[in-house]
Amino acid sequence: MIPCRGILVDARSIKYSKDEDLSEDGLLELLIHGAILSSELIPWGSNYNFLLDIEGRPAVKVKAIYKPQAGESPLIDFPIGTLYKREYATYVVSKALGWPHVPPTVIREGPHGIGSIQLFIDAYPQPNYFTLRDDHSEVFKQIAIFDILINNADRKAGHCLLGRDNKIWIIDHGLTFNQIFNLRTVIWDFCGHPVPAPLVKNLESLLKLLSIPSQLTEDLRQVLTESEIKALMRRLHLILGNPVFPNHDPFRRDVPWPWL
Ligand SMILES: Nc1ncnc2c1ncn2[C@@H]1O[C@H](COP(=O)(O)OP(=O)(O)OP(=O)(O)O)[C@@H](O)[C@H]1O
Ligand SMILES: [Mg+2]
Repeated sequence: MIPCRGILVDARSIKYSKDEDLSEDGLLELLIHGAILSSELIPWGSNYNFLLDIEGRPAVKVKAIYKPQAGESPLIDFPIGTLYKREYATYVVSKALGWPHVPPTVIREGPHGIGSIQLFIDAYPQPNYFTLRDDHSEVFKQIAIFDILINNADRKAGHCLLGRDNKIWIIDHGLTFNQIFNLRTVIWDFCGHPVPAPLVKNLESLLKLLSIPSQLTEDLRQVLTESEIKALMRRLHLILGNPVFPNHDPFRRDVPWPWL
């Protein structure tokens, strides 16, 4: 099990009755140690994923998405059995930056062995990036730069959720942190625009954190290889060296399929 010390989560996204309360650390604790009451296969998606009911003490329940290592489909461009680790690494980096909203994620044993367990986001069913972008362009700038940083090879429009808490949440981060640059995203609206100054400041702070032994580097070392961490640093240096949203690359496929 991977400890999640020092990682803060936004507990306001969680639904539980008013008389119960759960601190942010309490939520991670629940995801890691809670009793798994039920597990139901989600019949879509390219891997075997499950919706769990998890109960902690005293009687606090949450829903979560479980992605077991054993249920991952092999891919030619990612080492086999590592996608669940990338889900966790994405969450860890988002917490260190302070944006965007990635649901709290842990690694633990579940009914089908080790895997990632991520808080289920109660979201409106219809909205997606294409319908949300006009009203949330500042949030999507965060997501666009974050996807470059984590080298996301699969940012589909449908994996940008509008939560019932009215926040934009992003999910599905198994295809990230490849050491070879492999960005595939539907978010190409900001080509040539400067990265907003406050985001650049946060990215500078992240670089400092990654440059010294820290909880962040310790957490990342447990799930990524040294080469993948070095590649993350290289991408961070590149963004900070020229903080402008990049253009399409005509020589590689840089959108996912399907778009939704
Ligand atoms: N944190 C979450 N909150 C709410 N729903 C989620 C969450 N994570 C995943 N889901 C749901 O589970 C489905 C499958 O998850 P996901 O897309 O991450 O898996 P995948 O195997 O990578 O599938 P895909 O082929 O769509 O990329 C999603 O389409 C979504 O409906
Ligand atoms: Mg996927």
